Amino acid sequence: MKVWRAVADRFAFVEFDGPPLEPLELYTKKSGEEIVGQLYNFTDKGGREVALRPEMTPTLARMVSAKANALRKPIRWFCAPQMFRYERQQRGRLREHYQVNYDIIGEADVTADAELLAVAIDIMREFGLTSRDVRARFSDRRLLRALLHQAGVTEGQIPGVFAVLDKIKRQPENVSLERLAAAGLNATAIDAVMSMTTADTLGVSGASAEVERALEPVRRYREHLSHLGVNEWVELDLSIVRGLAYYTGVVFELFDAKGELRAIAGGGRYDNLLESLGGENLPAAGFAMGDVVLTELLRDRGLNVTVNSPDFWVAGDSSEHDPNVMRTATALRRAGASVEYALRKQQLPKQRKAAQSAGAAYFVILEDGFDKSGAIRVEELGESGGRDAASPLMRALADRPATLQSLLAVLGDNPGMLP
Ligand code: HAM
Repeated sequence: MKVWRAVADRFAFVEFDGPPLEPLELYTKKSGEEIVGQLYNFTDKGGREVALRPEMTPTLARMVSAKANALRKPIRWFCAPQMFRYERQQRGRLREHYQVNYDIIGEADVTADAELLAVAIDIMREFGLTSRDVRARFSDRRLLRALLHQAGVTEGQIPGVFAVLDKIKRQPENVSLERLAAAGLNATAIDAVMSMTTADTLGVSGASAEVERALEPVRRYREHLSHLGVNEWVELDLSIVRGLAYYTGVVFELFDAKGELRAIAGGGRYDNLLESLGGENLPAAGFAMGDVVLTELLRDRGLNVTVNSPDFWVAGDSSEHDPNVMRTATALRRAGASVEYALRKQQLPKQRKAAQSAGAAYFVILEDGFDKSGAIRVEELGESGGRDAASPLMRALADRPATLQSLLAVLGDNPGMLP
């Protein structure tokens, strides 16, 4: 959550929230079969059909529509709510998860799509992952549609073909072939669809005018991604369609590079959703990332998933509970540090152990005479065990008297010094 919020801040997204319970029809109208089959829905005491939210996008679309005129555009909103989906529980899929959403509303250009993918990649970076751990695969439904038209697929057959494409890498080839035939495609069109997912369409020759037109934003999207410094994470993959029905343009998903887990994140452009829910005609794009697959990936790679360890643990050596411990904790907290101390009377060695198991970076001991001189001793915890003054904070303190005032002065002069 801390990383999700920090990255949102860096990209200037504003946090919002909405109700966890929504009218059932908000989802049955536009989200598509897959998610509707996973709804936790029921009739409430007033006879209304309601559902626990399985995703945030329809709620966001409804909320923005209601206030569209009053909002500065483009709207950059994020949220990190709890979602509920009645899925078969398995690795990477639970019936309840936290999901961060970032959406930009009011901008139709692929600059917005590129910005969103940069957010997703920045989150990966912030967790210590690299482009060797995670791949972003994107496609564009406008390009897919143009390629399908060129292959002789009719507009009416497209939803069926999208559904097959979405699963083409996860199901046996003969199942895809049967489903394409069942969608009404002839042998030539089936061949074209099956070979589409491997073709390098950015360099197609003999493309129709519609394909050429659809390629233009895709090329610009790639250029923007390169300026945003994320190109090496990204590849075009025409089998990315996304299961939700409302997408209209660029669509993307993030996967672990080994291909062992489900998608880490997914999203895309949904230019018609606001209007189709009865709101303003505003273009929109966004994505969501859940905590479940992400946590599995971080554990697999041995990366830290606990981020909330205190900067300081304040300890007193007196037998009575020392009010100076609370005063010191308060002073450090007001200086912006995260601080913990023993809430019950404890011997010093026990306090040090507690500090270590909380993952505190520094152990601050109030010395005799603290009342008069503010005397303290600061130990660096962790691997060095406090024996070598390795960190910048310890080095800065080494030149000063060992007092609380010096510690506060160092923090005041160097706000970036805490871990
Ligand atoms: P989605 O692909 O359905 O998209 O979900 C996005 C992410 O949420 C998935 O990649 C996965 O990490 C996580 N997730 C979804 N279902 C579960 C589950 N049952 N258990 C654990 N994690 C799960 C959407 O929801 C779109 N509304 C995203 C979006 C936002 N599009 C535009 N704006």
